[in-house]
Amino acid sequence: MKITYLGHSALLVEGGGKSVIIDPFLTGNPNSGVKPADIKVDAVLLTHAHGDHFGDCIGIAKANDCPVVAPVELANYCMEHDVKTVGMNIGGSHQFDGFKVKYTLAFHSSSLTVGDRVIYGGEPAGILLTMGDKTLYHAGDTALFGDMKIIGELNQIDLAALPIGDFFTMGPDDAVIAAKWVQAPKVLPLHYNTFPAIEQDVEAFCDKLKEQGIEGIPLQNRESVEI
Ligand code: NI
Ligand code: MN
Repeated sequence: MKITYLGHSALLVEGGGKSVIIDPFLTGNPNSGVKPADIKVDAVLLTHAHGDHFGDCIGIAKANDCPVVAPVELANYCMEHDVKTVGMNIGGSHQFDGFKVKYTLAFHSSSLTVGDRVIYGGEPAGILLTMGDKTLYHAGDTALFGDMKIIGELNQIDLAALPIGDFFTMGPDDAVIAAKWVQAPKVLPLHYNTFPAIEQDVEAFCDKLKEQGIEGIPLQNRESVEI
């Protein structure tokens, strides 16, 4: 499984000839450095509806003629834009051609504002994405929560992608605890340094992980890690 960081919480994940993008916030993301038109994927996966995650979802799904996989209410909103959708919900999993998606809890909120409409985005979620024998946990936007221990006990997570920005999500200290609880040997920090409110010292975060025997992988934009 090859994971490429596209800034903020956007990840391109490739394996076994398949590729998916998670939370494709590219346009307006000062750090992505990638044009939506350059993204070639078999599915777009969404953790929740907020604009810094939903991003270029519709355009990428249309250009690739691929499904948007999302919490069901958010998938229903996407249907209004004539894209294929797979609406799932927390606790549910599905084996797609070449990859498996399982939705997990996340403690956050989820809505879209379109003009003067505020659209309920369903429950916010995390994603367990399995390709071959490797599993990535993308925590979405979330606070630290105790059931991360259960997620860690029940799943063999090879890499956890965790928000560390604070303010809207857990910050670095809570993310170190999350990394321990989900029993991840490797952690990719997400959701930091995109905006002033979420500036963090990622090297200090990785030092704290190291004290716990966990490897931090602070990817630069468009850098990849193979797990
Ligand atoms: Ni959010
Ligand atoms: Mn966010």
